[in-house]
Amino acid sequence: MEKEKNITSMVAAGLLALAATIGAPERAAAADGPALLAANCLSCHSAQGDGISRVEGQRKSPEGWQMTITRMQEQHGAKISAEDKRRLIKYLADTRGLAPAETAGWRYLLEHDNNRVETIDERYRDLCARCHSGARFALQRRSEDEWRLLMHAHIGLNPTLEFHSLARDRQWFQLAVNEVAPALAKDFALDARAWKTWQAAPRVALGGSWRIAGFLPGKGAFEGRMRATAAGADRFELAIEGRYADGAALSGRGVATVYTGYEWRGSVDIDGIALRQVMAADARGERMQGRQHLADSRRMGGELSALREGAAPLVMAVMPAQLRRGETAELTVVGSGLSGAVSLGKGVRVLEVVSRSADRVVVRARAEGRDGLNDVAVGTARGKGLLAVYDRVARVEVEPANAIARVGGPGDAQMEKVGVAYRAVGWAAGRDGKAGTADDLRLGYLPARWSIEAADEEAEKAHDADFVGHIGADGVFVPGDAGPNPARPKSLGNTGRVNVVATVGGAGATVEGRGKLDVAVPDFVHRALD
Ligand code: HEC
Ligand code: HEC
Repeated sequence: MEKEKNITSMVAAGLLALAATIGAPERAAAADGPALLAANCLSCHSAQGDGISRVEGQRKSPEGWQMTITRMQEQHGAKISAEDKRRLIKYLADTRGLAPAETAGWRYLLEHDNNRVETIDERYRDLCARCHSGARFALQRRSEDEWRLLMHAHIGLNPTLEFHSLARDRQWFQLAVNEVAPALAKDFALDARAWKTWQAAPRVALGGSWRIAGFLPGKGAFEGRMRATAAGADRFELAIEGRYADGAALSGRGVATVYTGYEWRGSVDIDGIALRQVMAADARGERMQGRQHLADSRRMGGELSALREGAAPLVMAVMPAQLRRGETAELTVVGSGLSGAVSLGKGVRVLEVVSRSADRVVVRARAEGRDGLNDVAVGTARGKGLLAVYDRVARVEVEPANAIARVGGPGDAQMEKVGVAYRAVGWAAGRDGKAGTADDLRLGYLPARWSIEAADEEAEKAHDADFVGHIGADGVFVPGDAGPNPARPKSLGNTGRVNVVATVGGAGATVEGRGKLDVAVPDFVHRALD
């Protein structure tokens, strides 16, 4: 299938997939932790308490620890086996990790959902977030000393730091050590109540049966069931069965490791596509939320959510998640324990139950009533605000609104192309009838037609839109080949600036949304976290 080819051919060599390798033996990681640190780190570090120097004053995400240990290997020549590294990351994330509240707002980096403009406090923006994301340090907690030593490490590892990255406009090192480090120690403090509370809280094992729903670029929305069977401490074997919105079946297998009691990292193969799952579980272990992405092209992915199947019936999603007033449509209600009458909320009439099982009920329904987010119920199973009822799409947002693609190839031996998976979000105007105001109603993802256009006058003159690549009907942008292109003036490469345009609706009533896309040169640096 053409769609599948697009995705699998966009393989960007990712660094170290964190999710553990299939079939690796599980040992009691926690008990071994101090011994592992001693064996792998003491050749350079000194013993401190039951740990080692430098580690004690820091807490971070599993990916953060992975990044640090990778630096020990790549920059300092530490020899650490893959198995020891895996267990060290687990131990360090469990004992010196982040509480769920400490990762809120920054999870896009863990999910590798990087096509976004960050909101970073001004004091850190110019000194830190010109080189890498702000989330990189916002996902760490350190003592003031440790923040300061990090500044020393920066200048030590990159002595020319002050001469590049637009750094000549200030005294980087002085400011970093004297002003930024103390500020970081307050804003991202090592000793935080959130972490103490989380460490003291009882842990809920995340094994069992989960109802899952999500989206995969090129494939579309899907729903199914994921069974997680315990295969060691915080380690699970996964079996996934489900189907896409068009009815096609999907099935997969894999493994997952849970870090810090809630950080779910899965490594699954669904119908031949290698995927990674990054989710966070809630404190009760009943719901997980996050993203699933291609293993070798991490930006290509979509949302993934999981609800634990238990004693209580539940409604998880409605597909599609919106119904236009005056229209009759088929809707699929997804959940578990679905028996009894179907209610799609005020003003929506269920005309017919087309098919039903305990997991999914397909109905024909017609919306009247008024705009709003309706609760959905099947018998005693309930889901809040799952169905958007609307009259008119007032505006369309393109997701991601700002993105970077990278030319690559030609051929597999060259740098891989980095594409972008687009989706269109519809909004209704809300009660005030005006689009773009606070009361706009998010209608969710809508089908759209996709095209690209030059982003500005310069890009227009250079015909960027003819060279940078193409966007498919599935919203997947595939960049052009790397290297000089004789068809362009001065043999310019296929880079450029375009707008990605989503057109929603038909016949005289279309609404367009635009996103900015920079098609850039290949990125030769691969990082654990951007
Ligand atoms: C070959 C020597 C060597 C080995 C082995 C080594 N380290 Fe390091 N480590 C260093 C040096 C040098 C630094 C200071 C420069 C830096 O931060 O990269 C450092 C710094 C660190 C830091 C502070 C990093 C930061 O971001 O502030 C941590 C944490 C750390 N090491 C953890 C470990 C762990 C855990 C191990 C064992 C798994 C380990 N190191 C093994 C040499 C080593
Ligand atoms: C000149 C570019 C540059 C600037 C400016 C910069 N960094 Fe970095 N930073 C890097 C690089 C490169 C690495 C990766 C080092 C490695 O692990 O290989 C890094 C790594 C990090 C890490 C991860 C370290 C670990 O292993 O735990 C943190 C946290 C961090 N930087 C925070 C900051 C903060 C805070 C500032 C602002 C005061 C800052 N950076 C400014 C380039 C920069």
